[in-house]
Amino acid sequence: MTDQYAVIGNPIGFSKSPLIHSMFAKATGQNMDYTTIEGPLGGFAGAIDAFRASGGQGLNITAPFKLDAFAYATERSERAQLAGAANAIKFDGDRVLAENFDGVGLVRDVVYNLNCPLKGKRVLLLGAGGAARGALLPVLAQGPGELVIANRNLDKAKELACIGAASGIHIVRGCAYANLVGQTFDIVFNATSASLRAELPPVPASVFDPGCLAYELAYGKGLTPFLRLAQNAGVQQLADGVGMLAEQAAEAFKWWRGMRPDTRAAIKVLTVALV
Ligand code: ATR
Repeated sequence: MTDQYAVIGNPIGFSKSPLIHSMFAKATGQNMDYTTIEGPLGGFAGAIDAFRASGGQGLNITAPFKLDAFAYATERSERAQLAGAANAIKFDGDRVLAENFDGVGLVRDVVYNLNCPLKGKRVLLLGAGGAARGALLPVLAQGPGELVIANRNLDKAKELACIGAASGIHIVRGCAYANLVGQTFDIVFNATSASLRAELPPVPASVFDPGCLAYELAYGKGLTPFLRLAQNAGVQQLADGVGMLAEQAAEAFKWWRGMRPDTRAAIKVLTVALV
């Protein structure tokens, strides 16, 4: 029987994961099916049980089930534990292993695809929700010169900064948006969910160093208000999360299948112009 994988979410119709994984499977000669599951709200465990019983081997998890997947697992990686959320699971007999590849996908995109090493850089992370939590440890592991986390809810930013500092790296601090005035950064990540509603986080345009990379973790939205702000501030290098999406998928594929596919073709197909 062909090996079965899926992505579960609600809604799920928008997901690009089946396209990406079918491209990966074809390019690497892997015999596998990858489908979508529209999980019933409040019915995550039942949907996963059914998929598992029918021979499913692993899943990607998207909104709103990342916390449910984390709870469903019997073992969780350190990255998943820090994020408090899983974006991939793998079945191994009775074991259910949880991973979170979002942050590592982001870092791979920035460092390798965009050729922008994080080491020694002044990095600003906007937001302190699930996306920011997933990014935190992988970004810190690259050794930035400093990491500032800004959030409307300052307590959440400080809490995340404490988690980062507890990892042994002390150049991370939480900050209110208003206190960003007078500070500039080499890389600014928008990990808020503002762009999903075409909103702009209240970040001052002065945070962008002219040689800065402005990176929107959302993908496929074109020139979001955040990216437009950066562009108007003179930033040359703008990126959205298409590369992060492909890279986290490649990490999951490698975890499931033991080989890492090349992401370039998938990124090319999925790229939406930033206009
Ligand atoms: P996700 O999983 O996408 O990160 P989340 O956990 O609900 O979603 O977190 C959303 C993040 O976006 C939060 O950091 C939120 O800020 P608050 O904690 O202060 O609410 C941030 N956010 C959402 N809309 C925003 C906006 N218009 N401006 C600034 N931050 C926003």
